[in-house]
This record gives sequence, structure tokens and C-alpha cells, in this order.
Amino acid sequence: MGENKDMMEKIISLSKRRGFIYQGSEIYGGLGGTWDYGPLGIELRNNIKKDWWKRFVQNKADVYGVDASILMNAKVWEATGHVSHFSDPMVECDKCKKRFREDMVDGDKCPECKKGKLGDAKEFNMMFKTSVGAVEDSSSVSYLRPETAQGIFVNFKNIQDSFRPTLPFGMAQIGKAFRNEITPRDFIFRVREFEQMEIEYFVRKENWEDYFEYWRKECGDWVNSIGINMNKVHEIDVKGDELAHYSKKTIDFEYEYPFGQKELFGLAYRTNFDLTNHKLEYTDLDTGNKTVPHVIEPSFGIERLVLAILLDAYTEEEVAGDTRVVMKFEKHMAPVQVTVLPLMKKDGMAELAHKVFDDLKERFVCQYDITGSIGKRYRRQDEIGTPYCITVDHDSLEGNTVTLRDRDTMEQVRVKIKDLEEYLEDKFK
Ligand code: GAP
Repeated sequence: MGENKDMMEKIISLSKRRGFIYQGSEIYGGLGGTWDYGPLGIELRNNIKKDWWKRFVQNKADVYGVDASILMNAKVWEATGHVSHFSDPMVECDKCKKRFREDMVDGDKCPECKKGKLGDAKEFNMMFKTSVGAVEDSSSVSYLRPETAQGIFVNFKNIQDSFRPTLPFGMAQIGKAFRNEITPRDFIFRVREFEQMEIEYFVRKENWEDYFEYWRKECGDWVNSIGINMNKVHEIDVKGDELAHYSKKTIDFEYEYPFGQKELFGLAYRTNFDLTNHKLEYTDLDTGNKTVPHVIEPSFGIERLVLAILLDAYTEEEVAGDTRVVMKFEKHMAPVQVTVLPLMKKDGMAELAHKVFDDLKERFVCQYDITGSIGKRYRRQDEIGTPYCITVDHDSLEGNTVTLRDRDTMEQVRVKIKDLEEYLEDKFK
């Protein structure tokens, strides 16, 4: 367990040191369950989102993207049962008054103050309630969405009217979701503000099992492709009481985090629960027959993908009596793809390095780094997982060549400046 705790500390510390992830509102003591993303964290998130969108929306002829509002009419959440059911059982200490999720405590002793007794469990609704408009009354109540899925369902008719799709077809969305978690914890694993990438795939009832299997495989293949070790991912069939109120079958894909095996993403068969509750239906274009399609829902949370990618990318190597930390991201996930380093500022090396940066910046996510010794700069790039470093040295000034250093092998090759773009293009293919 010590080693595992150590691993989380290393990831949290590297994330802060190198500008991936910071505590939310840190200068005011933080705000529980919120995290801010720095320059490298944003690039990593964006790479995940871009790759998901390309693979599951743009590359699929039958999936339509939407971007719905976070604030939705309260009737949406009444219709779906979230107002009455979207809750976790919570217990409170009779001495320090701290609250805990019931399933996260053992026995009735308060784990915080160790003196108090935990009371009976009460249901705690996790939706953030707010008020829309200048007057606060029951008609102004709105909720920050706790899942992006409903933004998809409420646009089901719009997509039918605009595109006239035939079953099966899907709708997809990437966006923020909010849950007032009782005990946010484990860095970015359980937070109150997070981002989801969800697909609602509409099928005829009799075909749901085939499409469930189709999406099970699709999801696993994609997760593997972004650098998550599938040997650490386990499929758990969610049983009975544990199923969400809308689901007939769910597989939780759990990942071996250092703090235990917990959910990474989910795949659910939501039946026709949501469309029925929203009184929506599908009209067959050929026959005019009406039906309420059933739904398969692959649902990913970006924070948990970011965490698993960071954990699987982290490596330490002993080099010349020193520890070299390397983030071995898949190349298409790396926040920075290429960094250009002038060996020194003088003799025109900085200017030439700037020119190389300018030549490559349109095609690759590039950095230009001139501070510190070349050894320190390589180490810094290893720690942020930059696949290739280009060094402009004395020979570059005469021969118009640079060295290209590979992150994983540390091998250096000399490449003509005019060939760099093509050479790198090939490496990133
Ligand atoms: N629409 C279905 C749905 O929302 P969920 O299992 O509650 O299902 C889907 O959430 C995914 O969203 C999870 O697998 C997880 O990746 C992410 N997620 C849920 N709650 C989260 C939280 N508090 N912090 C971070 N990610 C969360």
C-alpha cells in the first residue's frame, strides 16, 4: 500500500510541478472536489477529446454530435427521476458533524474525529441546485446537469427532424457535468465538476444485446489506443441494487488505481427509460410506424482517463546514478509533440532555433525552450513526455542539420532542417 500511496504522490507532485493539474482556488485554501488544469493538462484533455470525437463521431456515419446547455429546465430532471433518485446514502457524525458516504465508512465510529458516532443513513441528492433569473422561487429552480446524457435525449427530436436518420443511430456529446459528491477524493478520481464524453446509441429493442457487445469492444479498443494498460482494466457486471435507476444492464470498466480497483468508464443498457419519460418517439421513415427506441450508452469521464493515462505513462529509469522520470505517453496523446532547444543563445543558434520552431508549429504542437543546461532541459521534456527534442547546435549553423532525440530510447540522429517536417510526420503516423 505504501508503494501505491507513493505513486499517487508522485503523480500529484509531477502534475503540479510541470503544469498539468493544480488544486482549484488554491490561493484561498482550495475548494473541495475542484481542480484546475494548467497548459499541459489542457493539451492532454484536448487530445483525449479530439481523439474520441474523431473516432466515435466524425468517423461514424451514423453518430450525430450535439452540444447542449449545462443549465436545463428542471422538468428534465423530474422526468428522468434524478430529482427523486439521484442520491447517495449519507451518514453524519454526532460530534464533529462531518458527513460521509455510507459505503465509504466501516462501522459507526467517526473516521475523522474518532470520538463521535455516525447516525442513520439519509439520502443526499447530488445535483447542484441553482436559480435562473432575478426572482428566486420554485419556478426559477434549475440544476447543473449531473450527466451529459440528458442534453442528448432532449435533442432527439431535433436530430430526427434535421437529419432523418434511420435506426440504429447515435448521438454524442462532450461536456461538463456536476455532482455534489459527499466525499470527493483521490485527486481527480472523484470530483464535483468533471467532463463526460457520452454516446446514446438508439436501437430496436430486439437488437440491444448485439449493440451492447459492439460498443463493449469499441470502447475497450479505444481505451487501449490512448495508452491505458488493458491488463489493469476489469469488466464488472453491475448487479441488482447497484444498478442505476434507469439501467437493466451495466458493465463498469474498473481500473487498478493505486488506491484500489475502481470505475474508469461505464457501458449501460438504459432500455427506453429516458425517451419514454420525455414522451419522445421515433417514426420509421418507410412505414410511418412509431416506436420508442432502446439505448446503449458508453459513458466516459475525462478526469479518470487523464488519471489512468498519467499513471500508465509514468516511468522511472536509473541513468548515471540519477533517476530519470519519463512520461511515456502515446505520441498522439503527448501534450507537447516537439520541443526545439538551441544549445546556446549565442552565435545565431537561438535565431535558427526560432526559425525551426516557426517551420514546425503549424503542423505539430511545439515548444521552444532556452532556459537551463541542455541536460536539464532534456529531463524537463522527459517529465512532460515530449516524444521528440530538436537541438540546434554549432553544426546546425554550418550544415543546416539538427539533432533529433527520441524520448524513449534517448537515441539522437542528425536530420537536415529541410527534411524535418516529413521526418516527424512519419514518426507521428
Ligand atoms: N450517463 C451515465 C452516467 O453518468 P456514471 O457511471 O454515473 O454514468 C459515467 O458516470 C462516468 O463519468 C464514470 O464512469 C466516470 O468516468 C465519470 N464520473 C462520474 N462521476 C464522477 C466524479 N464524481 N468525478 C469524476 N468522474 C466521474
